[in-house]
Amino acid sequence: MQILDCDFERLVTFVKYKYGIDLKDKKFLVETRLTNYILDCGFKDFTDYCTALYNDTSGREVANMINRITTNHTYFMRETDHFEHFMKVFLKQAVQTKTDHELCIWSAGCSFGNEPYNLAMCANEFFGDEKKNWDCRILATDVSFHALRNAKNGMYPEQDLEQLPPGWREKYFRQRAKGIYQVTEDIRNDVIFKYHNLMEPIEFKKKFDLILCRNVMIYFDERTKSMLCRRFYDASAEGGYLYIGHAEAAPDDMKYIKEKTAIYRKITEGGEC
Ligand SMILES: C[S@@+](CC[C@H](N)C(=O)[O-])C[C@H]1O[C@@H](n2cnc3c(N)ncnc32)[C@H](O)[C@@H]1O
Repeated sequence: MQILDCDFERLVTFVKYKYGIDLKDKKFLVETRLTNYILDCGFKDFTDYCTALYNDTSGREVANMINRITTNHTYFMRETDHFEHFMKVFLKQAVQTKTDHELCIWSAGCSFGNEPYNLAMCANEFFGDEKKNWDCRILATDVSFHALRNAKNGMYPEQDLEQLPPGWREKYFRQRAKGIYQVTEDIRNDVIFKYHNLMEPIEFKKKFDLILCRNVMIYFDERTKSMLCRRFYDASAEGGYLYIGHAEAAPDDMKYIKEKTAIYRKITEGGEC
């Protein structure tokens, strides 16, 4: 089913305003991801569907649309450099500086949860028996309720686990069916999943020691990226890190200091880490 140019342009503006996602070159994607839903729900065409979308005050239609439009591709150990930095630099520094033994970590745009669970596994490897003395629960947020539901269940197909170091599958997963593995309860308890739209102000109480926003800003334009990185910066603790995807370019006015590719740090003049 094809979408009329006028309906497409209005949808592009709506999605960009509400979620930051730039669909202007994604007409085919919009058509393919929404057509079955539109037909199943009995809408006549895209125009009929769009009218219902904009008039639905319950928020259900919009949530449904964003579940279908977002790209949730992810897997364990994606961009290994970050997990190496997390264990060899971030957690090592934390042991020296965090006398309260509390870490504030946020996986923003967590998709199916592989990223935050992966961090929890790394923290487990790093701290070993000492982990019980640390509060290193990870906040994980996304705008897709579909992704969040799956993330909470923590069930993954075998191919998502392929990059894990030897022994981690046996240690951190339980096989639930042929080719399906669930993250252990201990690791699941280390992650708190919440809905959060990155276009909304960041109102979490604590400042973050580490924010991961990887392979999310790739869908945003320059202005949106810049706004978001300013918000991340304000929500970061002094010395806090930001990890972005390796394929993503930081905005020109980035306030964080670049430590290495895809790794940034908040260092203010006179600030103490
Ligand atoms: C490709 S996945 C990245 C997952 C993970 N961070 C990784 O690198 O493997 C991008 C995620 O960003 C989420 N996303 C897109 N726009 C968002 C927004 N405005 N607020 C919060 N999450 C958003 C999508 O729902 C999707 O789950």
